[in-house]
Amino acid sequence: MLHKLHRMSALVIGTFIFAHLINHLFILGGVQQHIDVMDAFRVIYRNLIVESVLLLCVAFQASSGVYFVWKRRGQREGFLEKAQAISGLYLAYFFLNHVGVVLFGRVFTGLDTNIYYGIAGFHVAPFQLYFVPYYFFAVVALFVHLASAFNWLSRDKITEALRSRLAFLIIVIGIIISTTLMLGFSGAFGEINIPAEYSAIYE
Ligand code: HEM
Repeated sequence: MLHKLHRMSALVIGTFIFAHLINHLFILGGVQQHIDVMDAFRVIYRNLIVESVLLLCVAFQASSGVYFVWKRRGQREGFLEKAQAISGLYLAYFFLNHVGVVLFGRVFTGLDTNIYYGIAGFHVAPFQLYFVPYYFFAVVALFVHLASAFNWLSRDKITEALRSRLAFLIIVIGIIISTTLMLGFSGAFGEINIPAEYSAIYE
């Protein structure tokens, strides 16, 4: 029952994250494009009902995930089973941190929690030493977790060799997307000028 709920909640969060990552890829077209797309997506997720459901799912996902890791401690075998637990734990840490910081920003700083808020730390030394790996591994962990879930759910449908190859492909795609995002957020594809009120958070 708990596993079923974990998968259902993953679908809700997964839908948001899919849109969230597409939104982030718009950084390749510049900050203004990213902000415009986020404004459009906010019409859907920034309302009491959708946001409450999303945040409840995040809390449930993180706590049920940590419980699963604890319950099956010492029993996991093979790369993907172990990677599922490690990526899940990192995602739980990231989720709570990331959502907490976004909600803190909205309630206490008076700033619009747009992409400037998300990546100001990339542009104020030495905070990029924390934020680049923090976000990089979050996106990679997401794809590793997806690959592990795929590997488990397809166990009776395709051969083990094909499952492993497809799971590996999912992880490689994740690494490529994450690297592209980190380069984009760092300003590798176009200059990013963080407004003073956002960089002031770190000064
Ligand atoms: C790749 C780097 C990422 C950046 C720069 C980033 C940035 C942001 C920003 C700026 C917001 C606030 C959105 C708003 O105010 O409308 C936000 C919200 C959020 N992000 Fe991320 N994000 C990243 C990756 C992720 C990942 C990998 C996940 C999931 C594993 C995630 C999950 C969320 C969630 C659940 C929210 C809360 C939505 C809400 O209720 O407003 N983010 N993110």
